[in-house]
Amino acid sequence: MLESLDPIVNLMKRRGFLFQSAEIYGGAGGILDLGPLGVELNNNIKQLWWQRFIRQRDDMVGLDSAILTPYAVLKASGHVDSFSDPLIECGNCHIRLRADHYMDEPNRDMWIIRWRDEAMKNRGIGEKKATEEANQAAIKLFEEKAPLVCPNCGEQKYGEPRQFNMMFQTNMGAVVNEGSVAYLRPETCQGIFVNFKNVLDTSRRKVPFGIGQIGKAFRNEITIGNSLFRVREFEQAEIEYFVKPGEDAAAHDAWLDAIEAFLWNDIGIAKENLHRLEHPKESLSHYSSRTVDIEYNYPFGGFAELWGCANRTDYDLKQHQEHSGKDMTYFDEETRERYIPYVIEPSVGLGRLMLTILVDAYKEYPQGRDGKSGEMETVLHISKKIAPVKVAVLPLMKKDGMGEKAREIHEQLKQTLASQYDESGAIGRRYRRQDEIGTPYCVTVDYQTLEDGTVTVRDRDSMEQNRVKIEDLEKTLIF
Ligand code: GAP
Repeated sequence: MLESLDPIVNLMKRRGFLFQSAEIYGGAGGILDLGPLGVELNNNIKQLWWQRFIRQRDDMVGLDSAILTPYAVLKASGHVDSFSDPLIECGNCHIRLRADHYMDEPNRDMWIIRWRDEAMKNRGIGEKKATEEANQAAIKLFEEKAPLVCPNCGEQKYGEPRQFNMMFQTNMGAVVNEGSVAYLRPETCQGIFVNFKNVLDTSRRKVPFGIGQIGKAFRNEITIGNSLFRVREFEQAEIEYFVKPGEDAAAHDAWLDAIEAFLWNDIGIAKENLHRLEHPKESLSHYSSRTVDIEYNYPFGGFAELWGCANRTDYDLKQHQEHSGKDMTYFDEETRERYIPYVIEPSVGLGRLMLTILVDAYKEYPQGRDGKSGEMETVLHISKKIAPVKVAVLPLMKKDGMGEKAREIHEQLKQTLASQYDESGAIGRRYRRQDEIGTPYCVTVDYQTLEDGTVTVRDRDSMEQNRVKIEDLEKTLIF
């Protein structure tokens, strides 16, 4: 279990998964760019999500609605009036914080570590020997003092919390006036709700059925951080599953099971690192009658939301019916009943999911994988289905035709798989480079290949090497 996110952040930067956006200009807070490996991984996650939740189900269809959202839609949904977080501002240094996060991570950790270290220094205890007593003393201090003190400048000049709307506002068209106001959508689902009738009329679906989409969402978060965990521009994968009122509770439980099955079996996240959090009634969003989060045990501050699953009742369709004046009811031909469906909504941020996958898959072997080399080795034991590079083709040496043969095999494999060719450096070093980015298989071309047309296939996890005929290679590589 990692103790901090630093090794993952370093790996993502060093190997080209993730870059700070506009880095050459000093970077922009809360926006990040996916690098060559990041975009491959993200695409693989999206494809798997789409395959499981849209294509493989007869009760699901897909959609890709617009990012720019007219004022009317978000007024009806309640976002214009209440998509806000409580903000506090320091009267001295003017740093702004989310009032409800102020006592949470990462501030809580920061204060506790700071005060623990202070307590230990005062007692002449070395940093490595953090005692339980010093920890407890720091936690006590935090509870007494932290709510009053600015973590940036240390002054005690916070004003009262005020509500800060998190939507990015813009104007559409050449004339800027009240009627031209639009927003970058803060969640993808409103595009689904306003298309409910279009999809129903054109796809010949019957309730229960769902609409899923993947797309960008934007939130002007007051506090950002922990890499992809909380950013201002992110991709969501959302499902709105429409059911007959009264059948919502069972559908909710079924979707929770489906999410967990996806995380455990497809994505390969360890079961012990996930749990369900039932939101208490008093903290539910205005649209929800029940929300359960699938939480992951992150190296920063423990369990936190990975994937939300809410029962949105008939709130959104009702709101849009009222504000647009258009009928949003469903008529059940069999029972001759007309009703506004209830909605179950599984929703996940793909960046947050990617970060979770990397955290879960990352493993350091301080003494090498054989436990003897004395050299640190890192492996991403990522699900083979989503690994950004599926196979690497490596000539033992470039000379004597091995390079040419390896290139030939790579040319063939890359028609269907994400394949890399690598000829530089010692073979052990090349294996390590591939292990570090989670490549499931390395195919090595050696002298024997030139004699009998076989190659070795090395499995990332077991490190076992098997000889196979080149013509059998593709069926040997199982994902
Ligand atoms: N339509 C419902 C909705 O948007 P949410 O809990 O606000 O609900 C759903 O967001 C998911 O989107 C979260 O579980 C999380 O995975 C992701 N998410 C939300 N805000 C995010 C942010 N600022 N950065 C990254 N991911 C975020």
